[in-house]
Amino acid sequence: MDGNGRWAKERNKPRVEGHYQGAKQIEKVLQSAKDCGVKYITLYAFSSENWNRPKDEVDALMSLLLASIQENRKLIIENKIRFRTIGNIEELPQNCVEEIRKLENDSKNFTEQTLVLALNYGSRDELARAVSKLATDVADGKIKASEITYEKIAENFDTADIPDPDLMIRTSGEMRLSNYLMLQSAYAELYFTKTYWPDFGHKEFLEAIQEYQRRERRYGLTGEQINVK
Ligand code: IPE
Ligand code: MG
Repeated sequence: MDGNGRWAKERNKPRVEGHYQGAKQIEKVLQSAKDCGVKYITLYAFSSENWNRPKDEVDALMSLLLASIQENRKLIIENKIRFRTIGNIEELPQNCVEEIRKLENDSKNFTEQTLVLALNYGSRDELARAVSKLATDVADGKIKASEITYEKIAENFDTADIPDPDLMIRTSGEMRLSNYLMLQSAYAELYFTKTYWPDFGHKEFLEAIQEYQRRERRYGLTGEQINVK
């Protein structure tokens, strides 16, 4: 979800206004995903590198995170959406952690759709944590070093119970993956759009899905399986 700051700048508004508009898009994109039969949607909300931003902005993002979870709680429960997070959640402010854990727990049995928020997430950090866990298992004699495969590593990723993405969308014209689901997206279709995240709505979501469907898929889902209404 990139481009909130530039969206605000173009309107002579403070950056936080862009983040506020960006947070409002989430509900729309969730609805679009539902209409298309997309069962899993993972949003990169805060990277492990975003702590380097000015303290005021980080504080505003954390307040917005808390408010968004509280405001969307009803929508998530009513629509039977399973809410999950990936990333090192424990390093977030305590009130955010509590709200996240509560909603994860209250929605854990829902199967209609899964919404994953990547918070304090970075692929390198996730990989380091997974390898550290496996190294401990080897030291404890639970598995042999020679038994370590990619699958064993992936079982220790934050995404262990989430399928690999079929389509990766990055908004705002940047053409990088920026440490996001690097190994999980090994076979994902990459889609880059110049649209800033606060302007990314139903029409833009459908355009991305239609582009996905035009591509020849050799791995994972074929475009035909996604139902564009
Ligand atoms: C993305 O928008 C939001 C977060 C990373 C939280 P940016 O804040 O990166 O917006 P730009 O890149 O400055 O336009
Ligand atoms: Mg950015």
